[in-house]
Amino acid sequence: MNSLLHSSTVLRLRVPPSFDAWRELARVALKQSIGPDQIDFEDNTVAAVGDLFEAAQDHTRSLLDVPRESTFAPHVPRSFLDRALLAGYHRDSARWNLLYRLLWRLQTDRNLLRVEVDQDVGALLRLVQQVKRDEHKMHAFVRFRRIEDERGEQFVSWYEPAHRILPLAAPFFAERFATMRWSILTPDGTVFWEPDTPGLQFGPALDRSHAPSEDELETLWKSYYGSIFNPARLNPSVMRSHMPVKYWGNLPEVELLPSLLQRAESRVATMVSKQSAKPTAAPYVPEVHSLPILAQALPSCRGCDLYEHATQVVPGRGPITAEVVLVGEQPGDQEDRRGEPFVGPAGGVLRKAMAEVGIAAESVYMTNAVKHFKFVQRGKLRLHQNPRQSEIMACRPWLLAELDALKPKLVVCLGASASRSLLGGTFALMRDRGKLLETSFAKHVMATIHPSAVLRGRDEESREALYRTLRDDLLVAHKFIRAA
Ligand code: URA
Repeated sequence: MNSLLHSSTVLRLRVPPSFDAWRELARVALKQSIGPDQIDFEDNTVAAVGDLFEAAQDHTRSLLDVPRESTFAPHVPRSFLDRALLAGYHRDSARWNLLYRLLWRLQTDRNLLRVEVDQDVGALLRLVQQVKRDEHKMHAFVRFRRIEDERGEQFVSWYEPAHRILPLAAPFFAERFATMRWSILTPDGTVFWEPDTPGLQFGPALDRSHAPSEDELETLWKSYYGSIFNPARLNPSVMRSHMPVKYWGNLPEVELLPSLLQRAESRVATMVSKQSAKPTAAPYVPEVHSLPILAQALPSCRGCDLYEHATQVVPGRGPITAEVVLVGEQPGDQEDRRGEPFVGPAGGVLRKAMAEVGIAAESVYMTNAVKHFKFVQRGKLRLHQNPRQSEIMACRPWLLAELDALKPKLVVCLGASASRSLLGGTFALMRDRGKLLETSFAKHVMATIHPSAVLRGRDEESREALYRTLRDDLLVAHKFIRAA
């Protein structure tokens, strides 16, 4: 089923479409110092699901013939593995070569993944995004139909994902429909769930004819969809891109659209009148949380009014692999002009304190609780104004999305606004600063004073004391990360 062809310069490996299979081969090739230009991974899509791993092991054992005593331990950072695993589900046949090239380069350039502008890194991030988006779509668009067989009720769905994401997407359904007997059929394979049998069972592809096409469940779906339909989100081109026509065949509720569309206008008016006046960025934050995607969407945010006067929105900045995220309040005058966080006087204090405790500024991700500069104009001066609680809360979805994209080991809130955003309105900064707290959005969070508080100290002595406070808290953060 699998073959390995040697040409004079390039070793061709046919890989079953599974990350584990590729990983096994890549590890061996790396140990043998086979460079990316000497190897070509090809997809072997005819391998049956159950054969995948064995096939890869066969390759490894018989063809690459690794000396067992090899002590070379490849450098494979977690951040690479996590992304490579997702990219492995992509249908692009060039993905395995891309992953191997990155793996190879990582051996000599450990910071490679931080360079998002690198062509290979950019390509990896794009694959990851496309796979995540496809997973999200599958969760949204799979529709089960009920059938009866000799064992009773069963729910079956036919679905055609853009990528080979069945193993990635299936656990979601096991959690959602834990008590039902169900199966999902795709052109790449099938997954079955039996409530009394542990684990999901994967099998070979079955064609669409095995899935029933109509049943009474459709009525249920339709009434459910009619009740959750949000007319304010109605935007035909967005609808087409989120729900490409190819999915429509699986969606019984599509039949409802004409009547829902007719009623949409009056329902929007009712919704608007019922809506509370609370501003929020939530509708502007993309569902896919990756830094490049968030940065692209950020300028169109109209979640509160602050965008009206600011020069520009100021996104967070720092490597995607950052273990520490520093959250300030909002961009200041210089940040607003330059479009980067912490490049003004407060940033100077912060960077000095970080350097003194040993935190490399370029290793951390810096962002703000509020992404636009809020100020009052006094002649030529633009005077900083504290954001309101409602503005902090409006902007919070952006911050949470950034944290979700980065998954840092530690978040440091600088000052009261960042603390209010992430730790709640009752958090007492001066009492609880410097303490490591656990939260749902980041495993560890701590708060300290804002560097601008140092600049505002009433005299030299108090400025020094405030600076020491900031520096001591950053030292706690640094020690925690080093020990983690
Ligand atoms: N103060 C902040 O809180 N953030 C910045 O980016 C600059 C100053």
